[in-house]
Amino acid sequence: MCGIVGYIGPKSVVPVLIDGLKKLEYRGYDSAGVAVAGAAGLRLCRVQGKVAVLEETLAKSPIEGTYGLGHTRWATHGRPSERNAHPHVDCSGDIVVVHNGIIENYLSLKTMLRDEKHEFRTETDTEVIAHLVEKFFKGSLEEAVRAALAVMEGAFAVGAMSVKDPGRIVVAKMGPPLLVGVGEGETIVSSDINPILAHTPHVAFLEDGEMAVIDAAGPRFTDFKGKPIEKKIEKILWNPLMIEKQGFKHFMLKEIFEQPQVVRDTLMGRLSLDQGEVLLDETGLGPDVLRGIRRAVLIACGTSSHAAYVGKYLLESLAGIPADVEFASEYRYRDFILERDALVIVISQSGETADTLAALRAVKSRGAATLAITNAVSSSIAREAGGVLYTHAGPEIGVAATKTFTAQMTALTLIALGLAQAKGASSREGRLEVIEELQRLPHKIEKILGRAAAIEDLAKDFMSFSHFLFLGRWVNFPVALEGALKLKEISYIHAEAYAGGEMKHGPIALIDEKMPTMAIIPKDRVYDKMLSNLAEIKARSGCILAVADEDDKAIGDHVDVVIPIPATHPLLTPFLAVVPLQLFAYYIAAKRGADVDQPRNLAKSVTVE
Ligand code: F6R
Repeated sequence: MCGIVGYIGPKSVVPVLIDGLKKLEYRGYDSAGVAVAGAAGLRLCRVQGKVAVLEETLAKSPIEGTYGLGHTRWATHGRPSERNAHPHVDCSGDIVVVHNGIIENYLSLKTMLRDEKHEFRTETDTEVIAHLVEKFFKGSLEEAVRAALAVMEGAFAVGAMSVKDPGRIVVAKMGPPLLVGVGEGETIVSSDINPILAHTPHVAFLEDGEMAVIDAAGPRFTDFKGKPIEKKIEKILWNPLMIEKQGFKHFMLKEIFEQPQVVRDTLMGRLSLDQGEVLLDETGLGPDVLRGIRRAVLIACGTSSHAAYVGKYLLESLAGIPADVEFASEYRYRDFILERDALVIVISQSGETADTLAALRAVKSRGAATLAITNAVSSSIAREAGGVLYTHAGPEIGVAATKTFTAQMTALTLIALGLAQAKGASSREGRLEVIEELQRLPHKIEKILGRAAAIEDLAKDFMSFSHFLFLGRWVNFPVALEGALKLKEISYIHAEAYAGGEMKHGPIALIDEKMPTMAIIPKDRVYDKMLSNLAEIKARSGCILAVADEDDKAIGDHVDVVIPIPATHPLLTPFLAVVPLQLFAYYIAAKRGADVDQPRNLAKSVTVE
């Protein structure tokens, strides 16, 4: 929910922190702050608003130090304001902390600390950490943080420093991610990999219950009890350029245009064309395990749950097993029933979504076999699931997920094919047809992207509507859900999605000339059914835009606007149909002047409940 960055090294600390915060801003952007320490003591700057506001403020009134911590916030406890912005300080002003997550017992801790005459200045749960560290401080920041951690409950990533124990940053993780970049003579701490890559590819991923104590000599790792830990330092192969806009106006547009490559990269090394087979050995799911799987449960949130829905249809059609999609936030509290031969697939771009992680832990505690699909190497979900199939989408900075949705569908297709081949559930020819078509998808997506200007023109005509309906059936019902989500989250236009056949059961009452319908209608097994659904809309003066096969010459007689996509295997149409919907949402939002990459109230990685 929030972003934390910290730096000790020879570079000028404030620019390093600001650069890091800009890269973490997708995690939260309602207030930001930095604290630096050095010869002039501890200096703080906090603002309500984005990192750009912080940068401007610092340009007017610069602060200097040799090491420091920064934070970009997405409010949980206490509204966005300068006062509630991190870093937070103790009573003496000598100790500062930044925090991502929630301290669940903060009210009782606050009462205790108030009784001990600690003075609180903010409405945040974070401030209790600063006062706890103050309470326990006896000369060693490390020991004081450790004592504070012992009484804190909840999910948190914390960073602390104190001028009373100078030259040191102490960080700790219990829940939200925290990474330590280990460079030549410098150390950078961050909530994700992006700020680190500008300095070093060498990274240690803290586990829950681990701390790092960082000084000029580098990081030292321990557990919360103080026991030293030997951390593995991994080399990350992402290139820092991947997190620049590279000439695109927004990250979201760049990421939409990266989708052909994302499909190629996610398929790479996982298909054997000679054999007509997929290779899933990296997941630990060998043919014997796959053969024994009789049911799949797909657990995810948001866009990842829409990919899960596409996966459900793929698993049913290709692998011939029942598949259910569950919202992680609901499933974790259910009395769910899991058979021994079920495979639970958790899908999460960030690999850190609190609900998905909790659902994963719940199913694991029942002994279920689990497989994660995630884009974040060594994320919590990747580390805790029984197996992982990484989506090779590269960093996704736009808050609205686009390329990772496509990468997740690619990974799910591979899993469905892998299961089909292990179980002999579909013919080799049938599977080969899908495999061959999968490989043609990048080129077909490129063709759609080549027509982006036409979609931009359409956006001009439709940007002033206040309501939209999205309709799809069968494998494109989830695409309708995804198209509506994209439009509402970045343009703030009300959009609803329905399975075409549900229209007559209520939603059709909404139709009038003020509510256009975006329909997804490739020539598949439900084409005629969708046509009837569209006729019902036309009969009620509804305007229809239709994403349809480019060789469907008849569709123009039934709808107002046709958005053509190349024909493909019926099960793979979501890969193509979603692209114009992403572009449509993007151009409408951009034309309405919305903050496309950082929509209001949203954060990229939802690491709290
Ligand atoms: C929408 C979006 C969110 C995420 C959801 C799950 O564009 O990005 O709905 O899909 O918060 O996030 P992950 O996939 O990181 O678990």
